[in-house]
Amino acid sequence: MNKELFTPFPTTKYLGPEYFCDRENEINTLLNNIKSHQSTTLISLRRMGKTGLLKHLQNKISDQWISVYIDILSTENMEDFLNTFSTSIVQAVPQKSTLGEKIWKFFKALNMSVSYDLINGEPSIKLHMRENESKTQVQKILQLLDLQNKPVLIILDEFQQITKYPEENMDAFLRTVIQSLQKVVFIFSGSQQQIMNDIFSNPQKPFYRSTSFLHLSEINREVYKDFIIQKFSAHERKIDEEVVDQLLTWTRQHTFYVQLACNRLFTNSEGEIDIAMWQNQAHELLKEQEMIFYTYRDMLTKPQWKLLKAIALEGSVTNITSTAFYSRYDLGSSAALLRSLQSLLSKDLIYKKYDLKGIVSYHVYDTLLFRWLEKLPSK
Ligand SMILES: Nc1ncnc2c1ncn2[C@@H]1O[C@H](COP(=O)(O)OP(=O)(O)OP(=O)(O)O)[C@@H](O)[C@H]1O
Ligand SMILES: [Mg+2]
Repeated sequence: MNKELFTPFPTTKYLGPEYFCDRENEINTLLNNIKSHQSTTLISLRRMGKTGLLKHLQNKISDQWISVYIDILSTENMEDFLNTFSTSIVQAVPQKSTLGEKIWKFFKALNMSVSYDLINGEPSIKLHMRENESKTQVQKILQLLDLQNKPVLIILDEFQQITKYPEENMDAFLRTVIQSLQKVVFIFSGSQQQIMNDIFSNPQKPFYRSTSFLHLSEINREVYKDFIIQKFSAHERKIDEEVVDQLLTWTRQHTFYVQLACNRLFTNSEGEIDIAMWQNQAHELLKEQEMIFYTYRDMLTKPQWKLLKAIALEGSVTNITSTAFYSRYDLGSSAALLRSLQSLLSKDLIYKKYDLKGIVSYHVYDTLLFRWLEKLPSK
């Protein structure tokens, strides 16, 4: 690895168990589920670490399981799904293995074209089919996988995307196929919580109660703290415990932001890392995003922007329609406030959280935006 570019805090991809912190309980839950042939729905806020967790799971089970990771975010219809699905399978199974040979034979019998990535040489498959044929082929591929000696895990990341396909009843189709399989188990992962909940816990939908739910939240603070200190010291840096404490609070322990902040601090400082160095990096991170944040302001109406700022200044808001809140920030009537709230929620600028007692609170979604907003003048 290029030493200049190296950092033990990845922010874009999974680098292996050495750079992965904790999630032992979640891994155990997933392992128990897949071993008992129970499919799982994995849900969290964006950037909390779902994809990382899934890659870590794949790494752990690679000896005993054939596992296929499929990110369907870029797919727009059933045909795209089939192509992404086929490509992920041929990439996951070595071509020279028994299963690999069967899979290639299967694809070659279909009308398909293969292209190879110029950089890593990975094959990518495009099948040319009529609309209804796609479903049949997905079913056939799954049946082929079901005949293997090794159990098969299929991970569908960004699963909420299927609700955007023009083909109707995609969920009903998948549910029927999945039910007929003996050895293939699934994990469905997604960050759009409302859509995911609707797919899996609406009694009128085909997937109702067919999976077990796993909600991913923040990594335990003490565990993350030890991990960070250890990673810095393993690479000739010494970081004050107080700095790590501040960093974890500032990032709200939201995995991606913790990784990003550590990454910057690691890359831009040497030897002993103190509070001043950390504050400087935090300031830089916000400054880099400033132009984007101003475009948000331009995109929103004045009442929406005011509400977003008010939520940031409060940190979190529980009684959103209380007179105290909307008069403190001059937010107009409660009806106007609710309209703005709905709009900010649908744009993912804020999120709604339920605590253990079912009490609702609202928070700014993006941690950097939150930290930037709370520093703005309040009026
Ligand atoms: N347990 C962990 N320890 C260290 N780094 C992690 C951990 N989990 C995730 N990360 C890193 O944090 C970043 C964000 O995580 P990830 O992409 O897995 O989140 P996500 O929930 O899939 O986000 P999205 O909803 O946007 O797809 C990634 O770079 C990932 O490698
Ligand atoms: Mg992800």
